[in-house]
Amino acid sequence: MYLYGASGHAKVIIDILNASGVKVDALFDDDMSIRELMDIPVKHFWNHESPLIISIGNNFSRKQIAEKLQCDYGVAIHPSAVISPHATIGEGTVIMQGTIIQSSAKIGKHCIVNTGASIDHECVIENYAHISPKATLCGNVSVGEGAWIGAAAVVVPGVRIGNWSVVGAGGVVLNDIPDGVVAYGNPCKVRSVHEAGFSKRIAIYGAGGLGREVAGGIQRINRAGMGNWELVGFYDDGKPKGFKVSHLGEVLGGMTELNAVDEPMALAIAVGTPVSRKMIHDRITNPNISFPNLISPSFRVLDPSTFKIGEGNIIQDNCSVTCDVIIGDYNVFNGSNVLGHDVIVGDFNVLMPGVRLSGEVTIGDKNLLGVDSVILQRIRMGDNVTLGAGSVLMTKPKDGHTYVGVPAKKFEFE
Ligand SMILES: CC(C)(COP(=O)(O)OP(=O)(O)OC[C@H]1O[C@@H](n2cnc3c(N)ncnc32)[C@H](O)[C@@H]1OP(=O)(O)O)[C@@H](O)C(=O)NCCC(=O)NCCS
Repeated sequence: MYLYGASGHAKVIIDILNASGVKVDALFDDDMSIRELMDIPVKHFWNHESPLIISIGNNFSRKQIAEKLQCDYGVAIHPSAVISPHATIGEGTVIMQGTIIQSSAKIGKHCIVNTGASIDHECVIENYAHISPKATLCGNVSVGEGAWIGAAAVVVPGVRIGNWSVVGAGGVVLNDIPDGVVAYGNPCKVRSVHEAGFSKRIAIYGAGGLGREVAGGIQRINRAGMGNWELVGFYDDGKPKGFKVSHLGEVLGGMTELNAVDEPMALAIAVGTPVSRKMIHDRITNPNISFPNLISPSFRVLDPSTFKIGEGNIIQDNCSVTCDVIIGDYNVFNGSNVLGHDVIVGDFNVLMPGVRLSGEVTIGDKNLLGVDSVILQRIRMGDNVTLGAGSVLMTKPKDGHTYVGVPAKKFEFE
């Protein structure tokens, strides 16, 4: 058996398979830094090895991966589970320790029936659903696609839980729950729309190299279960409609088409020039467009309680901040950026890979910091400054000028 996703969830599945005498030959994960999990090799390129189980806890990520990988899927059923011979279990599904599945229950594909859950007669659990530990579904309950029933929740007989809805831990569900909501409490009531359940549409403005990097970042966020983005395509005023952006999608139009989008859509501005980022942002007048932060799963925050961040920021792999860091809006952190204590970053800045900001550095708006450049502690940078690649800024720069070298000096263009 092979597992896709080298996570904590995979560890449980390995135990379940081992307990049933099934050997896990290898796992797959796109995180190159993971080499093994519980002494089983982790590979980074899947070459149709099967049977496979998608060992990722996020329901939507399992769906996305299952739709992408065409192969034979296995099931993992712990020997301690009590399963009626009249129940059916779909491919890719994991049935954990101590669960009880009663007669004529139907469990779909790629579901998780977690530790000690109880699913009574004639329940129908649709694909990609997750029934958490100790949840109790009485007879004839139906659980929609991708729905998540929280730990120790109770669902009374005959109730329907809608597609991609969440029932909070300990909720007691007495009535049907519609699609795509979060519900909790006793009695369980709908409290909000489930943003993380349905996929959210996102587009990228900028069909160049940064656009492709941002698209890769979005896929990585989805795979890590930290978002459910559906990349609908690219917008770019410099490329024709229909232009293919690698395998990732195509250009759907320019600013005119973007401002005409008539349903809610998130947007990432993937343009690496600070001034252009601001101009593009200011030309977007469509209230349907929102600007989420797109933050790599590898981003590390030393003290999250003191960290503040606005909207529309793109944080690529291996960036870190320590304590009391404040980040404004629409910045790009293009990878391996390190921000020390008390750093304040304004809006529309672009930090190329490897930029480091020492403690108490403040940077204003629309600055471009080149690859591997450094700003020493307590320096205050205003607006529209360019810092050359590899430069070390040791004194306060003047707005609108370019600085290069070690120490960085004002560069006069001829
Ligand atoms: C329902 C749930 C998804 C809500 O998450 P959320 O949207 O992040 O909600 P928050 O944590 O922001 O809480 C918002 C409010 O709802 C309340 N709340 C959250 N979950 C609740 C629950 N399960 N029951 C009762 N109240 C709950 C919080 O106390 C908070 O109340 P307040 O505004 O008065 O302070 C989550 O709390 C939950 O229960 N998840 C299931 C976890 C689980 O079972 N995991 C099993 C893993 S195998």
